[in-house]
Amino acid sequence: MTTLAILTAAGSGTRLGRDVPKALVEVGGLPMIAHAARALVDSGVVDALVITAPPGRSAEVRAAVGPLALELQVVDGGATRQASVAAGLALAGPGTDVVLVHDAARPLTPPALVRRVVAAVRGGHGAVVPGLPVTDTIKRVLPDGGSPAGRTAAGEPVVERVVDTPDRSVLRAVQTPQGFEHGLLVRAHAEGAARATAEHLAATDDAGLVEALGEPVHVVAGEPAALKITTERDLAVATLMLDECLEER
Ligand code: CTP
Ligand code: MG
Repeated sequence: MTTLAILTAAGSGTRLGRDVPKALVEVGGLPMIAHAARALVDSGVVDALVITAPPGRSAEVRAAVGPLALELQVVDGGATRQASVAAGLALAGPGTDVVLVHDAARPLTPPALVRRVVAAVRGGHGAVVPGLPVTDTIKRVLPDGGSPAGRTAAGEPVVERVVDTPDRSVLRAVQTPQGFEHGLLVRAHAEGAARATAEHLAATDDAGLVEALGEPVHVVAGEPAALKITTERDLAVATLMLDECLEER
Protein backbone atom coordinates (compact mmCIF):
# COMPACT_ATOMS: atom_id res chain seq x y z
CA MET A 1 0.00 0.00 0.00
CA THR A 2 1.60 3.24 -1.18
CA THR A 3 0.09 6.70 -1.10
CA LEU A 4 1.52 9.10 -3.67
CA ALA A 5 0.92 12.85 -3.35
CA ILE A 6 1.08 15.02 -6.47
CA LEU A 7 1.74 18.61 -5.43
CA THR A 8 0.85 21.01 -8.24
CA ALA A 9 3.19 23.99 -8.38
CA ALA A 10 3.65 24.64 -12.12
CA GLY A 11 1.35 27.66 -12.38
CA SER A 12 2.71 31.14 -12.99
CA GLY A 13 0.47 32.94 -10.51
CA THR A 14 -0.88 35.51 -12.97
CA ARG A 15 -3.49 36.83 -10.57
CA LEU A 16 -0.93 37.24 -7.77
CA GLY A 17 1.18 39.18 -10.25
CA ARG A 18 4.66 38.60 -8.75
CA ASP A 19 7.79 38.18 -10.86
CA VAL A 20 8.33 34.62 -9.54
CA PRO A 21 5.93 31.65 -9.85
CA LYS A 22 3.32 31.63 -7.06
CA ALA A 23 4.64 28.43 -5.41
CA LEU A 24 7.98 30.17 -4.73
CA VAL A 25 6.38 33.21 -3.07
CA GLU A 26 7.01 33.22 0.68
CA VAL A 27 4.43 33.13 3.47
CA GLY A 28 5.99 33.92 6.83
CA GLY A 29 9.53 33.51 5.47
CA LEU A 30 9.04 30.11 3.79
CA PRO A 31 7.99 29.46 0.16
CA MET A 32 4.40 28.22 -0.23
CA ILE A 33 5.67 24.99 -1.83
CA ALA A 34 7.74 24.23 1.30
CA HIS A 35 4.75 24.75 3.63
CA ALA A 36 2.57 22.53 1.44
CA ALA A 37 5.18 19.75 1.14
CA ARG A 38 5.75 19.76 4.92
CA ALA A 39 2.02 19.41 5.61
CA LEU A 40 1.93 16.32 3.38
CA VAL A 41 5.00 14.82 5.09
CA ASP A 42 3.77 15.74 8.59
CA SER A 43 0.47 13.94 7.94
CA GLY A 44 2.37 10.66 8.23
CA VAL A 45 0.18 9.03 5.56
CA VAL A 46 2.09 10.03 2.41
CA ASP A 47 4.83 7.69 1.14
CA ALA A 48 6.03 9.42 -2.04
CA LEU A 49 5.82 12.93 -3.46
CA VAL A 50 5.82 14.27 -7.02
CA ILE A 51 5.95 18.05 -7.49
CA THR A 52 4.94 19.61 -10.80
CA ALA A 53 7.30 22.54 -11.34
CA PRO A 54 7.14 25.47 -13.73
CA PRO A 55 9.01 24.22 -16.83
CA GLY A 56 12.77 24.78 -16.44
CA ARG A 57 12.53 25.64 -12.71
CA SER A 58 12.77 22.21 -11.10
CA ALA A 59 16.11 22.99 -9.40
CA GLU A 60 14.64 26.13 -7.79
CA VAL A 61 11.61 24.15 -6.63
CA ARG A 62 13.81 21.42 -5.11
CA ALA A 63 15.89 24.06 -3.33
CA ALA A 64 12.75 25.83 -2.04
CA VAL A 65 11.36 22.58 -0.60
CA GLY A 66 14.61 21.50 1.06
CA PRO A 67 15.31 18.02 2.43
CA LEU A 68 12.25 15.85 3.10
CA ALA A 69 11.85 12.54 4.89
CA LEU A 70 10.38 10.81 1.82
CA GLU A 71 11.06 10.07 -1.85
CA LEU A 72 10.67 13.25 -3.97
CA GLN A 73 10.45 13.52 -7.76
CA VAL A 74 10.10 16.84 -9.57
CA VAL A 75 8.58 16.96 -13.05
CA ASP A 76 7.91 19.82 -15.48
CA GLY A 77 4.22 20.76 -15.41
CA GLY A 78 2.03 21.30 -18.45
CA ALA A 79 0.00 24.12 -19.97
CA THR A 80 -2.94 23.56 -17.60
CA ARG A 81 -3.30 22.22 -14.07
CA GLN A 82 -4.94 19.12 -15.54
CA ALA A 83 -1.90 18.53 -17.79
CA SER A 84 0.43 19.04 -14.83
CA VAL A 85 -1.43 16.45 -12.73
CA ALA A 86 -1.31 14.00 -15.66
CA ALA A 87 2.48 14.48 -15.87
CA GLY A 88 2.79 13.75 -12.15
CA LEU A 89 0.47 10.75 -12.32
CA ALA A 90 2.67 9.18 -15.02
CA LEU A 91 5.45 8.90 -12.40
CA ALA A 92 3.42 6.81 -9.93
CA GLY A 93 5.53 3.85 -8.87
CA PRO A 94 4.37 0.23 -8.81
CA GLY A 95 2.35 -0.47 -5.68
CA THR A 96 0.72 2.99 -5.67
CA ASP A 97 -2.86 2.42 -4.63
CA VAL A 98 -3.95 5.87 -3.40
CA VAL A 99 -3.14 9.22 -5.03
CA LEU A 100 -3.60 12.63 -3.45
CA VAL A 101 -3.61 15.76 -5.61
CA HIS A 102 -2.83 18.95 -3.70
CA ASP A 103 -2.23 22.60 -4.63
CA ALA A 104 1.01 24.29 -3.56
CA ALA A 105 -1.20 27.39 -3.42
CA ARG A 106 -2.79 26.01 -0.20
CA PRO A 107 0.25 26.32 2.11
CA LEU A 108 -1.60 26.29 5.46
CA THR A 109 -3.47 23.02 4.90
CA PRO A 110 -3.53 21.12 8.21
CA PRO A 111 -1.96 17.61 8.16
CA ALA A 112 -5.18 16.39 9.83
CA LEU A 113 -7.07 17.23 6.63
CA VAL A 114 -4.62 15.10 4.61
CA ARG A 115 -5.24 12.20 7.00
CA ARG A 116 -9.04 12.67 6.79
CA VAL A 117 -9.00 12.44 2.99
CA VAL A 118 -6.71 9.40 2.88
CA ALA A 119 -8.78 7.64 5.57
CA ALA A 120 -11.96 8.14 3.52
CA VAL A 121 -10.30 6.72 0.37
CA ARG A 122 -8.88 3.77 2.33
CA GLY A 123 -12.35 3.35 3.86
CA GLY A 124 -13.71 2.48 0.43
CA HIS A 125 -14.56 5.80 -1.24
CA GLY A 126 -12.84 5.94 -4.62
CA ALA A 127 -12.81 9.72 -4.94
CA VAL A 128 -12.85 12.13 -1.96
CA VAL A 129 -12.76 15.93 -1.80
CA PRO A 130 -12.73 18.25 1.22
CA GLY A 131 -15.59 20.75 1.16
CA LEU A 132 -16.85 23.66 3.24
CA PRO A 133 -20.44 24.91 3.51
CA VAL A 134 -21.06 28.00 1.39
CA THR A 135 -21.96 31.08 3.41
CA ASP A 136 -22.86 33.45 0.56
CA THR A 137 -26.02 33.00 -1.47
CA ILE A 138 -24.88 31.81 -4.91
CA LYS A 139 -26.65 32.92 -8.13
CA ARG A 140 -26.19 31.28 -11.49
CA VAL A 141 -26.05 33.85 -14.31
CA LEU A 142 -26.29 33.72 -18.10
CA PRO A 143 -22.79 33.04 -19.51
CA ASP A 144 -22.86 36.18 -21.67
CA GLY A 145 -24.27 38.27 -18.85
CA GLY A 146 -27.51 38.63 -20.78
CA SER A 147 -26.44 42.15 -21.64
CA PRO A 148 -23.88 42.17 -24.45
CA ALA A 149 -24.13 45.94 -24.85
CA GLY A 150 -22.97 46.84 -21.32
CA ARG A 151 -19.32 45.83 -20.94
CA THR A 152 -16.38 47.26 -19.03
CA ALA A 153 -13.07 48.13 -20.73
CA ALA A 154 -11.88 44.64 -19.74
CA GLY A 155 -14.85 43.16 -21.64
CA GLU A 156 -16.73 42.12 -18.48
CA PRO A 157 -20.51 42.53 -18.58
CA VAL A 158 -21.61 45.35 -16.30
CA VAL A 159 -25.02 43.84 -15.62
CA GLU A 160 -25.62 40.12 -15.57
CA ARG A 161 -28.93 38.28 -15.84
CA VAL A 162 -29.63 35.78 -13.05
CA VAL A 163 -30.85 32.33 -14.10
CA ASP A 164 -31.56 30.84 -10.67
CA THR A 165 -30.49 30.49 -7.04
CA PRO A 166 -29.35 26.98 -6.02
CA ASP A 167 -30.29 25.87 -2.51
CA ARG A 168 -27.25 26.93 -0.47
CA SER A 169 -27.59 24.04 1.97
CA VAL A 170 -26.54 21.53 -0.71
CA LEU A 171 -23.54 23.53 -2.01
CA ARG A 172 -19.93 22.92 -0.94
CA ALA A 173 -16.80 24.93 -1.78
CA VAL A 174 -14.20 22.26 -2.46
CA GLN A 175 -10.52 22.28 -1.63
CA THR A 176 -7.46 20.04 -1.92
CA PRO A 177 -5.99 17.57 -1.15
CA GLN A 178 -8.36 15.44 -3.21
CA GLY A 179 -7.86 11.70 -2.84
CA PHE A 180 -8.43 8.86 -5.31
CA GLU A 181 -7.97 5.17 -5.86
CA HIS A 182 -5.01 5.13 -8.24
CA GLY A 183 -6.74 3.18 -11.02
CA LEU A 184 -9.80 5.44 -10.95
CA LEU A 185 -7.72 8.63 -11.27
CA VAL A 186 -5.67 7.12 -14.13
CA ARG A 187 -8.91 6.23 -15.95
CA ALA A 188 -10.38 9.71 -15.33
CA HIS A 189 -7.29 11.47 -16.71
CA ALA A 190 -7.10 9.11 -19.71
CA GLU A 191 -10.75 9.69 -20.56
CA GLY A 192 -10.50 13.50 -20.11
CA ALA A 193 -7.06 13.89 -21.75
CA ALA A 194 -8.36 15.90 -24.70
CA ARG A 195 -9.41 18.69 -22.31
CA ALA A 196 -5.93 19.17 -20.84
CA THR A 197 -4.52 21.27 -23.68
CA ALA A 198 -6.43 24.52 -23.11
CA GLU A 199 -7.38 26.45 -19.96
CA HIS A 200 -11.01 27.00 -21.06
CA LEU A 201 -11.54 23.24 -21.56
CA ALA A 202 -9.43 21.83 -18.73
CA ALA A 203 -10.83 20.48 -15.48
CA THR A 204 -10.21 22.85 -12.56
CA ASP A 205 -10.14 19.88 -10.19
CA ASP A 206 -9.53 16.16 -10.54
CA ALA A 207 -12.86 15.17 -9.02
CA GLY A 208 -14.53 16.80 -12.04
CA LEU A 209 -12.83 14.25 -14.30
CA VAL A 210 -14.10 11.40 -12.10
CA GLU A 211 -17.63 12.87 -12.20
CA ALA A 212 -17.37 12.94 -16.01
CA LEU A 213 -16.87 9.15 -15.90
CA GLY A 214 -20.13 8.86 -13.99
CA GLU A 215 -18.30 7.51 -10.92
CA PRO A 216 -19.22 8.73 -7.41
CA VAL A 217 -17.26 11.47 -5.63
CA HIS A 218 -17.63 11.99 -1.88
CA VAL A 219 -17.08 15.07 0.31
CA VAL A 220 -15.43 15.15 3.75
CA ALA A 221 -15.28 18.24 5.97
CA GLY A 222 -12.81 20.81 4.68
CA GLU A 223 -10.75 23.31 6.67
CA PRO A 224 -10.77 27.12 6.47
CA ALA A 225 -6.95 26.99 6.79
CA ALA A 226 -6.74 25.10 3.48
CA LEU A 227 -7.65 28.31 1.66
CA LYS A 228 -6.15 28.80 -1.80
CA ILE A 229 -3.93 31.79 -2.32
CA THR A 230 -4.93 33.48 -5.56
CA THR A 231 -4.57 37.22 -4.93
CA GLU A 232 -2.48 39.57 -2.75
CA ARG A 233 -5.47 39.77 -0.42
CA ASP A 234 -5.43 35.98 0.08
CA LEU A 235 -1.71 36.18 0.82
CA ALA A 236 -2.35 38.85 3.46
CA VAL A 237 -5.09 36.70 5.04
CA ALA A 238 -2.80 33.62 5.06
CA THR A 239 -0.04 35.64 6.71
CA LEU A 240 -2.46 36.69 9.46
CA MET A 241 -3.52 33.04 9.95
CA LEU A 242 0.02 31.65 9.86
CA ASP A 243 0.94 31.53 13.57
CA GLU A 244 -2.35 29.95 14.60
CA CYS A 245 -2.17 27.36 11.80
CA LEU A 246 1.41 26.28 12.50
CA GLU A 247 0.67 25.99 16.24
CA GLU A 248 -2.10 23.47 15.44
CA ARG A 249 0.30 21.22 13.55
N1 CTP B 1 -0.83 24.61 -11.58
C1 CTP B 1 0.00 23.68 -12.22
N2 CTP B 1 0.13 23.72 -13.59
C2 CTP B 1 -0.51 24.64 -14.32
C3 CTP B 1 -1.37 25.59 -13.69
C4 CTP B 1 -1.51 25.53 -12.31
O1 CTP B 1 0.62 22.83 -11.56
N3 CTP B 1 -0.32 24.66 -15.64
C5 CTP B 1 -0.94 24.59 -10.11
C6 CTP B 1 -0.58 25.93 -9.47
O2 CTP B 1 0.84 26.03 -9.31
C7 CTP B 1 -1.35 25.93 -8.19
C8 CTP B 1 -2.56 25.03 -8.48
O3 CTP B 1 -2.29 24.37 -9.72
O4 CTP B 1 -0.63 25.39 -7.09
C9 CTP B 1 -3.85 25.82 -8.56
O5 CTP B 1 -3.79 26.73 -9.66
P1 CTP B 1 -3.98 28.32 -9.52
O6 CTP B 1 -4.34 28.70 -8.14
O7 CTP B 1 -4.84 28.75 -10.68
O8 CTP B 1 -2.46 28.86 -9.73
P2 CTP B 1 -1.84 29.59 -10.97
O9 CTP B 1 -2.33 28.96 -12.23
O10 CTP B 1 -0.37 29.65 -10.74
O11 CTP B 1 -2.42 31.07 -10.81
P3 CTP B 1 -3.14 31.98 -11.93
O12 CTP B 1 -4.32 31.17 -12.43
O13 CTP B 1 -3.50 33.23 -11.22
O14 CTP B 1 -2.09 32.18 -13.01
MG1 MG C 1 -4.44 29.01 -12.76
